[in-house]
Amino acid sequence: MNFELKALALPQAATEKCDLLVLLVGEGFVAGSDPLSALVAHALKHQDLEPQPGKLLELYQLPAVAARRVLLAGCGNGSAKAVRQALLACAGAFKAAGVAQALVCFAHTPSAAALTAAVQAVADASYVYTATKPQAKAPALVQVVLAVPEKKSLQAAFAQGQALAAGVALAREWANRPANHATPTLLAQAAQALAGGPIECQVMERAALEKLGMGAFLAVAQGSAEPLRFIELRYQGAGKKEAPVVLVGKGITFDTGGISLKPAAEMDEMKFDMGGAASVLGVFQALALLQPQINVVGLIAATENMPGGQAVKPGDVVTSMSGQTIEILNTDAEGRLVLCDALTYAARFKPRAIIDIATLTGACVIALGGVRSGLFASCDTLAGSLQAAGDAALDPCWRLPLDDDYAEGLKSHFADLANVGGRPAGAVTAAKFLQRFVGDTPWAHLDIAGTAWKSGAAKGGTGRPVGLLLQYLLDSAAVGKAAKPKGNPKAKPKAKAQ
Ligand code: BES
Ligand code: MN
Ligand code: ZN
Repeated sequence: MNFELKALALPQAATEKCDLLVLLVGEGFVAGSDPLSALVAHALKHQDLEPQPGKLLELYQLPAVAARRVLLAGCGNGSAKAVRQALLACAGAFKAAGVAQALVCFAHTPSAAALTAAVQAVADASYVYTATKPQAKAPALVQVVLAVPEKKSLQAAFAQGQALAAGVALAREWANRPANHATPTLLAQAAQALAGGPIECQVMERAALEKLGMGAFLAVAQGSAEPLRFIELRYQGAGKKEAPVVLVGKGITFDTGGISLKPAAEMDEMKFDMGGAASVLGVFQALALLQPQINVVGLIAATENMPGGQAVKPGDVVTSMSGQTIEILNTDAEGRLVLCDALTYAARFKPRAIIDIATLTGACVIALGGVRSGLFASCDTLAGSLQAAGDAALDPCWRLPLDDDYAEGLKSHFADLANVGGRPAGAVTAAKFLQRFVGDTPWAHLDIAGTAWKSGAAKGGTGRPVGLLLQYLLDSAAVGKAAKPKGNPKAKPKAKAQ
């Protein structure tokens, strides 16, 4: 989809030829002398249109408007959240067969956050999954013009919105693809397709991982006929010596539970168990488009978790790359096993922060539902930055505790630690397990089990938490830039961005 930002006042917007004009109408709408805004004022007065987000009034072939279809959409107080809600409510119109060119019109100059949200919301609203549905019609929409009274101050927000939209779309697409169309091999190919310019990609196969001693990751993969892959993406937007942020994605392309087999009901949804990996791919897509001044490494441990004659068994003890031995008491707690080796590997980049992203526990779904992702962090600064980034990007998370007392249950009779710690606080014990593998590096863990996809009628990947992660990286890049003025590259940064 092609987006364009245009400076257009309402009277001019009405003369633009297109298939659909969406006019966002906020609470304080003030009518001008042009016919379109007079019509809006009339509709508001008669309560045929209400200004709340989600309320719509659809009109056709208005004499005063060049667009064929007109959709008046309430956008409340005009906040990013309200604008997003308003545009998501227009999904039907954006996906309509006859709509190839749309104009989304702001009567008042939006905030930067609201414009970013608008671009992303239009992309989100018009996404249709077609990869394995040859008969499904892709939406006709190809061109979306965002009309604002004044555009100069909004260029950066517009670019961010476009990059975010592309990143979220990629994450949704890979999450949605069925496990037989999104194998570890295919995920690795998707990562390799992102390479070029400032992005490099390397993929390791079994032999290399055996050499590295990734015994925990390999144990999860040993029951599957589908070969595992370890994907490494590197984005260089700052000096070579600048410490990177490392993102680690859980890439279980299908989680049957292994020998500790899951129940049959809704097991299909375990194709989404690579949502963390998909979000890493999405972030790199956005980085490729925006090219911010920061270094980022993306690591993805990709495998299926299958039962079978070769599969790892409850009670088996494996040696992780860190040297710690792990008693696998439950083969369904496989996410932490693939992540722990990736976290050990992450240390070689001497990162300023490590953030892992994983559909890790059903317990996190129970704790926070589909609204906020679970956030765990060893460092308050990092936790604060991530929580703020999530709130700003409308992709929120909530911090949960990491007291050492929660690690009690991970004690094992036969290994350095067990991979499960009992049912209470299951999301926390999983995080405590991961913490054993990160050393002193500032580290955060995002449990996206509740937020990476939706079940039911709207079943599908959400693209979360690409928005949160991208916002965090852009904020970090901005801090780095402010601390190191141009012309004095040797100046020490005043604040460490986290
Ligand atoms: N991928 C699942 C977590 C999951 C479950 C995400 C349901 C979303 C919805 C993970 O690998 C898993 O199976 N976790 C177990 C851990 C348990 C065995 C300690 C869980 O949460 O039940
Ligand atoms: Mn599992
Ligand atoms: Zn899993």
